[in-house]
Amino acid sequence: MRKSVFPATAISGSLTLPGDKAISHRYAMIGAIAEGPTRIHNFSTGADPHSTLGCLGALGVEVEGSGTELTIHGRGLDGLCEPSADLDAGNSGSTIRMLSGILAGQRFRSRLVGDESLSRRPMQRIMTPLAQMGASIHAHEGRFPPLEIEGAPLHSIHYDLPVPSAQVKTCVLFAGLFAEGETSVTEPVRTRDHTEIALREFGAEVTSDAVPGNACARRIGVSGRPRLTGREVIVPSDISSASFFLVAALLVPGSRLAIAGVGLNPTRSALLDFLGGMGAKLRIPSLETRNGELIGEIVVEHSPLRGGTIDGALTAALIDEIPALAVLGAATRDGITVRDATELRVKETDRIRTIVDNLHRLGVEAEELPDGMVIPGSQKFRAARFDSFGDHRIAMAFAVAALRGDGESVIEGAESASVSFPEFWDTLDRITK
Ligand code: S3P
Repeated sequence: MRKSVFPATAISGSLTLPGDKAISHRYAMIGAIAEGPTRIHNFSTGADPHSTLGCLGALGVEVEGSGTELTIHGRGLDGLCEPSADLDAGNSGSTIRMLSGILAGQRFRSRLVGDESLSRRPMQRIMTPLAQMGASIHAHEGRFPPLEIEGAPLHSIHYDLPVPSAQVKTCVLFAGLFAEGETSVTEPVRTRDHTEIALREFGAEVTSDAVPGNACARRIGVSGRPRLTGREVIVPSDISSASFFLVAALLVPGSRLAIAGVGLNPTRSALLDFLGGMGAKLRIPSLETRNGELIGEIVVEHSPLRGGTIDGALTAALIDEIPALAVLGAATRDGITVRDATELRVKETDRIRTIVDNLHRLGVEAEELPDGMVIPGSQKFRAARFDSFGDHRIAMAFAVAALRGDGESVIEGAESASVSFPEFWDTLDRITK
């Protein structure tokens, strides 16, 4: 699908956005292995969390309701059923990596498959710790989906994450639910902690401690065989989806936008600090805690920005927002440099390459580095034909870039936005003047 985007004179209005993708996956998976019903409000409309629901259905979990209001009828820790066919994770790295942790502790075999993009993404990162815990996993060429998982009685381990990844952390902690004793993970820098918060909400014992001598690292532990109990939860709106509209409002002079009910968990909201540090006019007029997650309203106004550097722990904290920030970078005074971001090369696409390719189409100078990119500031955007390369965040980032173009731009592969945000194009239309 192709979408045309025209230059905007302002971005304005009030928005509520769909539920957070990351939190939706976790509530669905934990709800499935909890006892009793879990009622989920504002479940993500994205295709990825629906891949998770499809897999859970194939494992015998009844999912009642459709759209954003769901009830997951939990089957308890030992209640999942052997699937009669492959489990299809679609485009979703979170589904395949996090669900593998649960499947590793089952008494049956399962096979997880994905689409072409997912079939090229690395899985050794979960295979290594799960094998240490006692599961047997076979992958294509030893590292790519499909994954064949032979569940087994697991034993607890301590695992030092070699790369900061919340998906891998979650996979190991989920497997730890099926092992006796405490399973723990040390992450070299903090990653999103939705799993820790959600597991506690459902009744698990989870510890999270600073690591002496390393200010960035964290050790997280979970006690095995907990009694998880289904409950009522509300999913905050997705800050990663909000990032495209925040960037749009910052880019287009005369803009003012309010976004309600956004998830502002501190492990996800580095975006706001980074934007604020560059001079963005941002306010959070209201803030509350629901199910352990911070939720608030964000008000943003167009602002001239200085530019900045994303590296080290900040790169991990902003990993999903870099496509949008790269676009914004070219319009800041001093530009944006991204380093320590080799992980971007194994996302839905090689995002360093797909961002730089599209920046060049935009008429913008950008240098590709092995672990990031350098985008000089104060650049003009021209109308162009962009390619999403089948990556939702690339489609949305360059739709936003096109708002500052000098004529009609076209986004090829626009349908990929549905992976996290099916309403993106309608919402963009609604707030563009
Ligand atoms: C996610 C973690 C991140 C992120 C992805 C969702 C999660 O991936 O990029 O969109 O929900 O835990 P990694 O764990 O691979 O960094």
